[in-house]
Amino acid sequence: METVVSGIRPTGNLHLGNYFGAVKGFLQMQHEYNCLFFIADWHSLTTHPHPADIRKSAYTILSEYLACGIDPEIAPIYIQSDVPETVELYLYLNMIAGIGELMRTTSFKDKARQQLHIDRVHTTEGDVEHEIFNESNKHSVSAGLLTYPTLMAADIIIHKAVKVPVGKDQEQNMEMARRFARRFNQTYGVDFFPEPASFYYSHKAVKVPGLDGSGKMGKSEGNAIYLIDDEKTIRKKVMKAVTDSGPTEPNSPKPEPIANLFTMMEIVSTKDTYDYFNEKYNACEIRYGDMKKQLAEDINAFCAPIRERILAIAADTDYLDKVARQGAEKARASAAKTLNEVRRIIGFHSY
Ligand code: TRP
Repeated sequence: METVVSGIRPTGNLHLGNYFGAVKGFLQMQHEYNCLFFIADWHSLTTHPHPADIRKSAYTILSEYLACGIDPEIAPIYIQSDVPETVELYLYLNMIAGIGELMRTTSFKDKARQQLHIDRVHTTEGDVEHEIFNESNKHSVSAGLLTYPTLMAADIIIHKAVKVPVGKDQEQNMEMARRFARRFNQTYGVDFFPEPASFYYSHKAVKVPGLDGSGKMGKSEGNAIYLIDDEKTIRKKVMKAVTDSGPTEPNSPKPEPIANLFTMMEIVSTKDTYDYFNEKYNACEIRYGDMKKQLAEDINAFCAPIRERILAIAADTDYLDKVARQGAEKARASAAKTLNEVRRIIGFHSY
């Protein structure tokens, strides 16, 4: 069976965009592939070197994954820092990774600009390099940030995974992972690591829009509805959704904010409900207040049982400890197997 690995950084809570864009796919994938899901707590050190409570943040995501229906008996969920084998592979990959190629990745440049306090609006070609090498600059960029893609590659190939469900924003990191796998094979003259492919599971993944007029739902967009949000919060967020004064001609095309409301309804409401409001829209009789009330109710109906499970699971630390421990054991077994081979291939002696 093909191996699937997916990691998520523990920075916050899961929202509807995460659920319909990723987690819902995981629920099915866990039955079709050898899946390993992990929480990338080391990666969060690249931007937050002094996390307030990193274990707690990891357990938040763990509780939410479990509440959504990931079954740790068939798909282990582990915390990255519980699998130290990853770091050793990370070291070997760093020996064959180039500083130049790492510096050229867009996510490095973006985050380095933040760490260097370079104004995003006025960036120029070479600004990051210039500031990094400027000795009078009091800000610095960590080597950990530079090698973010190496660590991610190690996460993936330590299990010899071939499929990685990720968002489009991870394409460059995935390209690096393939490159490092290929380079390892070439360097040591072996055909050992398979090249991992991004896996969009596109027929299942749904892009959830934000309700603030344009674009997708996201944590950093500040427009997210979280699975953990209570009824009142959800209602407030939905009622604030951007609308307009309504169509003036029958069967008008829908402007983006309105189309987004409908897309959301398509995702969480019944077809009858969707059709009802769609007909009202086409007849120029739509009342957005009513539509939003209905949408808020339907989002609530979807989130309420998940929220209840999250709260119950999050309160059961013994259970979370057990899931994390068992996940780590399975992940370490898989990782150690790969690492033993890697050591042998490079030429380290095994006693
Ligand atoms: N970089 C990923 C993100 O920001 C998180 C991640 C770390 C990851 N390691 C991974 C995703 C390995 C997939 C596989 O979302």
